[in-house]
Amino acid sequence: MRKNLGSMGAIFPMPVLMIATYDKDGNIDVMNAAWGMMADMKKIALNLTETHKTVKNIKETGFFTVSIADSMHVKEADYVGIVSGNNNPDKFQKSGLHAVKSEFVNAPIILEFPVTMECKFLEYQDGENGIGVIGEIINVSVDEKVLDESGKINPDNIKALIYDTFCNNYYVVGERVGRAFHDGMALK
Ligand SMILES: Cc1cc2nc3c(=O)[nH]c(=O)nc-3n(C[C@H](O)[C@H](O)[C@H](O)COP(=O)(O)O)c2cc1C
Repeated sequence: MRKNLGSMGAIFPMPVLMIATYDKDGNIDVMNAAWGMMADMKKIALNLTETHKTVKNIKETGFFTVSIADSMHVKEADYVGIVSGNNNPDKFQKSGLHAVKSEFVNAPIILEFPVTMECKFLEYQDGENGIGVIGEIINVSVDEKVLDESGKINPDNIKALIYDTFCNNYYVVGERVGRAFHDGMALK
């Protein structure tokens, strides 16, 4: 028996992305964004509310970074999603997170998160069906601890957080269960 729940977002898992920016004076801000995804191989689309400090910073500096939050930093990841840099100038300091400036873009890399995309701002789509922030990925910076012997990112090492939009919980990515572009061959 199936049930109709009406029109609602029902994608699971959703990511837990950490969007980090500088303001015009070099102060760091970070926010939590679950409504974000790859738009193509080198572009990222983030549905960010225009009034967030993050969006103001992105428009001012033209750059931002996007990191994957991990299960070791649930508290910090949630904190930056419930406090705004608009009215909390010490938001980043209170998070306890640490950052260095990216070599490639004018945006901070948060050291606690092992995988970071360094992005150039392309446009803010604010039309009725606009997505929000569109950015181009200029570089990916990783903590070596997540790489395998061949230098590829091993997802098992990230312990990436998942956002559950149904019940407002966080999960962690579980074990690998198959091989993409491969397992379906058995039915071909
Ligand atoms: C789990 C979670 C997911 C969120 N996802 C988004 C999102 O995708 N887009 C958005 O605009 N705000 C999102 N938020 C809210 C922002 O992170 C929050 O408003 C934050 O305070 C904005 O910070 P800022 O004003 O310093 O940029 C999310 C918050 C949480 C806790």
